[in-house]
Amino acid sequence: MENGNQLSEQQIQNIRESVDIVDIISGYIPLVSKGKSFFGVCPFHDDHSPSMSVSREKQIYRCFSCGAGGNVFNFVMNYENINFIEAVKILANKAGIPLQIASYQAPKSKKFEAYYEVYDLAHKFYQNNMSTSMAKEAKEYLNKRGIETNIIKEFEIGLSLKNTEMLTKLLIKKGYDTNLLLKTGLVNQNEYGLHDIYYNRILFPLWDLEGRVVGFSGRIYQNSDTSKYVNTKETDVFKKGELLYNYHRAKNEARRIGQVIVMEGFMDVIRAYTVGIEHVVATMGTAVTKQQALLLKRMAKEIILCFDGDQAGEKATISCANELLEIGVTPKVVRLEDNLDPDEYILKYGKEQFLRKLENPMQLMDFKLKYLKQKKDFNNSQDIATYVNQVLNELKKVDDPVLRQLTIQKLSVETNLEESFLKEQLQEIKPKKQIESKPKNIKQNKYQQAEQNLIYYMLESTEVIQLYKKHVTYMPTKEYRMLAMQIACFYKDYKFINVADFITYIQNDEVLTKTLNDILALDLKENYTIDEIMDYIKNIHEYGVKFQCERLQEMMQMEIDPMKKAEIGQKIVDLRKTEMIR
Ligand code: UTP
Ligand code: MN
Repeated sequence: MENGNQLSEQQIQNIRESVDIVDIISGYIPLVSKGKSFFGVCPFHDDHSPSMSVSREKQIYRCFSCGAGGNVFNFVMNYENINFIEAVKILANKAGIPLQIASYQAPKSKKFEAYYEVYDLAHKFYQNNMSTSMAKEAKEYLNKRGIETNIIKEFEIGLSLKNTEMLTKLLIKKGYDTNLLLKTGLVNQNEYGLHDIYYNRILFPLWDLEGRVVGFSGRIYQNSDTSKYVNTKETDVFKKGELLYNYHRAKNEARRIGQVIVMEGFMDVIRAYTVGIEHVVATMGTAVTKQQALLLKRMAKEIILCFDGDQAGEKATISCANELLEIGVTPKVVRLEDNLDPDEYILKYGKEQFLRKLENPMQLMDFKLKYLKQKKDFNNSQDIATYVNQVLNELKKVDDPVLRQLTIQKLSVETNLEESFLKEQLQEIKPKKQIESKPKNIKQNKYQQAEQNLIYYMLESTEVIQLYKKHVTYMPTKEYRMLAMQIACFYKDYKFINVADFITYIQNDEVLTKTLNDILALDLKENYTIDEIMDYIKNIHEYGVKFQCERLQEMMQMEIDPMKKAEIGQKIVDLRKTEMIR
């Protein structure tokens, strides 16, 4: 496992042990001690009462209201919107533990290494073209658009030439397999043979989240009736919906100032950069996916949508905002006049005016009201009715009661409808949707309760793990079975048990993490007795037998062969016997 710059689990545990979760969290939010725990106002949801508890003993935190929870790494990751390794680095630093890793290499398969090599070569090739005499016209085009040499360098803009096989020849000379080249989306084949996909276009490299080139977008720069941009096709390493243009360059600045600006096109991003705005990314003209929304959420607390000023941009703003609302984020909105996109706006009105726009974004609800009001005639009852229903429909996505009330008041003034009536209507359409992160009531039948309780104490004591290993052959509920197995594995690996480290051990498994969180929320009494544990085990066994008997009975009913039927019958009898012995 030890390998040079890769962090070992041992190192991670050391770092976690070298800091105290209470100290770390109280560096972010005020904590007061009460009994055995510390309490504070949860920073992960809108809250005013201290619903987050931090346990010094267990080195974990959890919020009783929104269900957020974990160890010290999780807290720092969530608070700072950073990934695991970045959190480890911060905490190592606080603990004064030197870390040798310069950057974290996510364990990735070497499977696609060849793709990255090809893109890298192509990237260098195209960039080099840009500094030859053949780039004269392309450069003139860029300069005319206000893209000077320093920006060409900064965004690594390249150029494909009129010759249609230069890159292909180069790649073949380097020994790359034809099939691979076709798969990269840089090379194509026709009746005359292989040739470059890109010719005579200005090439904007597209980077993945880690900053590796995974494709290009090529723009025409001379009069041409072909499409304005040609993008590399989706490949094993390039999925448009999973990345945001400029993400790796923007993320630190976005985190630093707690804000990220989202635009549609990469020319917009590049223009913003030329006037000093660096915390900006682009969706590249497609509808924002859930993955992109989640990425944005992790980048910064405040998200500003600054799409093109035209109607399409308006629609895109609505759909992106809705995608963000789904994951609990309310973005703000900047709209640009005269149908301009940010690039054109900055060129026309200048940096200062654009910055002023960014400093005064619209609240999403105000934008939506304005959008819904368009083309509606308030002398026409049908139009008013449509408007009211649309606004109410938007309101059901809003959790903030103050914002709901304010909007209802506005709506009432606009339409002359009584507030009370509007509220009634809202009640009718308001879905009984639970806040997503609210801990579910996991009180189930006595068997499942036994599984949960057993796991709860397995996390407290190796004695209980040993009892589990000795007596439990089968946990009937899948999630609990997996979780118990992982606890046993952890114990086997490290010869101790500790919730805080176990959380990190299973952090890549969403289902297990969720199950663990639910079980920790049980908050059972501190001490157990062996009798209680044996009682859980007995119940689990009984449950297992019941479960297996039911399955066998079903099988028996389906079976036509009388011999086999009898065999299954015997199995059931045997199973039942084991139940009696216990
Ligand atoms: P726009 O048409 O708004 O492009 O498309 P733009 O940013 O203003 O580009 P310029 O100023 O004309 O050079 C926005 C985004 O949609 C994608 C590109 O990613 C672009 O940045 N797009 C657009 C394409 O993929 N193909 C196209 O033909 C057009
Ligand atoms: Mn443009």
